[in-house]
Amino acid sequence: MPFDDRYGNTLSTSSDAARDRYVEGVDHVLAATYGGVQSFEATVAADPGFALGHAGLARARMYEGDMAGAKSAIARASELSADTTSRERQHVETLSLLLSGQAGAARDLVLSHVQDFPRDAFCAQICTNVFGLIGFSGHVAREAELLAYTTRLLPHYGEDWWMLSMHALSLCEVGEVAASLELMDRALALNPENANGSHFKAHAQYEAGETDAGLGFLETWMEGYDSRGVLHGHLSWHMALWALELGQIDRMWALIDAGIAPGGSQGLPINIVTDTAAIYHRAELAGVSVSSERWQAISDFAAKFFPASGQSFADMHSALCHAMAGESERLEKLMEGTKGYAADLVGPVAHAWKAIAAQQWAEALRRLTPVMADHVRFGGSRAQRDLLELTYVNLLLRLGLRDEARRAMQGRRPIFADHAPVVGYD
Ligand SMILES: [Fe+2]
Repeated sequence: MPFDDRYGNTLSTSSDAARDRYVEGVDHVLAATYGGVQSFEATVAADPGFALGHAGLARARMYEGDMAGAKSAIARASELSADTTSRERQHVETLSLLLSGQAGAARDLVLSHVQDFPRDAFCAQICTNVFGLIGFSGHVAREAELLAYTTRLLPHYGEDWWMLSMHALSLCEVGEVAASLELMDRALALNPENANGSHFKAHAQYEAGETDAGLGFLETWMEGYDSRGVLHGHLSWHMALWALELGQIDRMWALIDAGIAPGGSQGLPINIVTDTAAIYHRAELAGVSVSSERWQAISDFAAKFFPASGQSFADMHSALCHAMAGESERLEKLMEGTKGYAADLVGPVAHAWKAIAAQQWAEALRRLTPVMADHVRFGGSRAQRDLLELTYVNLLLRLGLRDEARRAMQGRRPIFADHAPVVGYD
């Protein structure tokens, strides 16, 4: 007799152990908690013929950076899915497209799949969040698209901790900060261990300028979070940003070395590159010097994991690392790169980083200014793209355009209007 998952979707397995471990694995992925791979391995050990168990394993392995393992698991899921339900076949197909590099086709299939199966949360999840297939679509309206997506799904879920947290996240990224915070608190009350909940509560606090409260909240919350959890490094980055803003520089370095930079973080390469690059540069903008050894180490890491253009958000940050490390050859490869959903923006930003490294402020401003209107296309959160906002303000200040710098913050990022963490702003 088939079972249902926690969302009422039929599962083609007759093993109750497989069903239970599957539900557990899905919850690990939805909550970004450590243990998904083990849960799905136990699922397929209990029922080796259960296609969705293998698909779950593929997704959980992706979150541990094991792409070869993910591909072999999704290949097995595809072989097994022929005799399952139409939902399960299509569910496997979305992950299969994703893992074969067909992000656009995967996104289109998820969007149509959830019209028929809105409570297939594990599949719907692929398009949520700022690093999802809508977040990394390169579309200029992708924040509104994400909000529209979770708005459509929300009525199908009731008081579900995952769905509430995902909709709260969408609200946060279009500036509905108060509504986001209220909804996120509801989601966290239902499941306090949901790292997607604590993560975007931190974002809402960042957008509300609640620096002390945010740092205190995350510090307490992180005590119960496994350092192998996929968001551990990124949550450390949020704490380090706040420590920097509060002038707690030793604490910032401790967070960087223990959980953000290569060697300390156990997170995904994209988080290690983007978060390390961003905290280093934001530290420099705030007047804290970063050693050439640190820039060299993150440039080497970026070159290893992102050797060619393709992932535009990572490319934009890798270019910063290469510029600051003086790695011209690596930087030029990204300047000329044509691959990636926002490849046309990577080149100008890479030129800007090169000019900044050479202290050619006017040239840097000339390169960066056209990008400012559309940098949402890079993906990532508003807090992450503050790297560009604060760099832009710094260039205006370097050129003596103090009034323009203040107007830029007032108009573009009002949270920094009174106090921007950039030397010379106040
Ligand atoms: Fe974040």
